[in-house]
Amino acid sequence: MGAYSGSTALVTGASKGLGEAYARELARRGADLVLVARSGEALDRVADDIRREHGVEVETEAVDLAAADGASRLIAELDRRGRVVDLLVNNAGAGTVGPFLDSAPDRNVASVELNVVALMNLTHVLGRRMAARGSGGIINVGSTAAFQSMPYQAAYAATKAFVLSFTEALAEELRGSGVRVMAAHPGATATGFFDHTTATMNPAYTDSPERVAAKTLDAYAKGAVNAYPGRVIMRVTTWVGRLLPRTTVTRTTGRLNRALGLHRAHDLDTPASPARP
Ligand SMILES: NC(=O)c1ccc[n+]([C@@H]2O[C@H](COP(=O)([O-])OP(=O)(O)OC[C@H]3O[C@@H](n4cnc5c(N)ncnc54)[C@H](OP(=O)(O)O)[C@@H]3O)[C@@H](O)[C@H]2O)c1
Repeated sequence: MGAYSGSTALVTGASKGLGEAYARELARRGADLVLVARSGEALDRVADDIRREHGVEVETEAVDLAAADGASRLIAELDRRGRVVDLLVNNAGAGTVGPFLDSAPDRNVASVELNVVALMNLTHVLGRRMAARGSGGIINVGSTAAFQSMPYQAAYAATKAFVLSFTEALAEELRGSGVRVMAAHPGATATGFFDHTTATMNPAYTDSPERVAAKTLDAYAKGAVNAYPGRVIMRVTTWVGRLLPRTTVTRTTGRLNRALGLHRAHDLDTPASPARP
């Protein structure tokens, strides 16, 4: 609890799913919160609930972080309120599923804007302030998808590879500065992540968002640079890419994802894939 009590944590993507679980777990450990997502009403519902249950301060800010001015609008609002952020949890994330050439270009670009650009911009502005104070922390939510290329989630996995590489480098740059940076790599987690797609998650292989959130915060409190808050087998999958040739790993991942039907999956607002040779 000590790592969080009395601090202010900003959680992006806190209106549902893993972000909501991070918010609830941080509040349980005594942190005040700033909750961010696009859906203001959902954020307010989560905030009311958390205030009632844990008695911490909770503010909300509805902002589209994939918009070009999203991160700067959020920072301007924090400044207007005089809000100092001790812990930034860059959790908001999105991605397409299915063959890349059949996916909507806008959705792929938006996932890069959200998973990469907004994460980097918020880290830069709030990280500089933390470094100037000599204290603070940043948790970037990556994925086990970061550790190998993922046919049929090609752009999404690439954004998570960015999160992994960027976070590890920054953690090293800031080592000893009083500011800590960690990447969390959940495996399949029971959230609405695939809700806008035809893909589904097998409940037998998913973790609960509550458990993933608690394990992430435990790992951060212990000083980890990378956290693997899913089941052990998910961590084991991240070793395969370090041991085998990259082509072998990519082909095997492609085979597995075809077995899961991801080669036929698509976003609900894009048509099913035409037959390809
Ligand atoms: N679920 C999994 O299996 C899994 C596995 C590994 C990693 N992850 C990662 O975990 C993180 C959370 O995902 P999740 O599974 O909880 O997904 P989710 O249930 O779809 O929640 C995504 C959250 O991000 C917010 N969001 C989406 N687009 C946004 C935008 N443009 N601006 C601001 N907020 C936005 C959503 O709220 P609004 O729609 O209201 O904006 C929501 O609060 C992501 O980074 C994801 O990549 C998930």
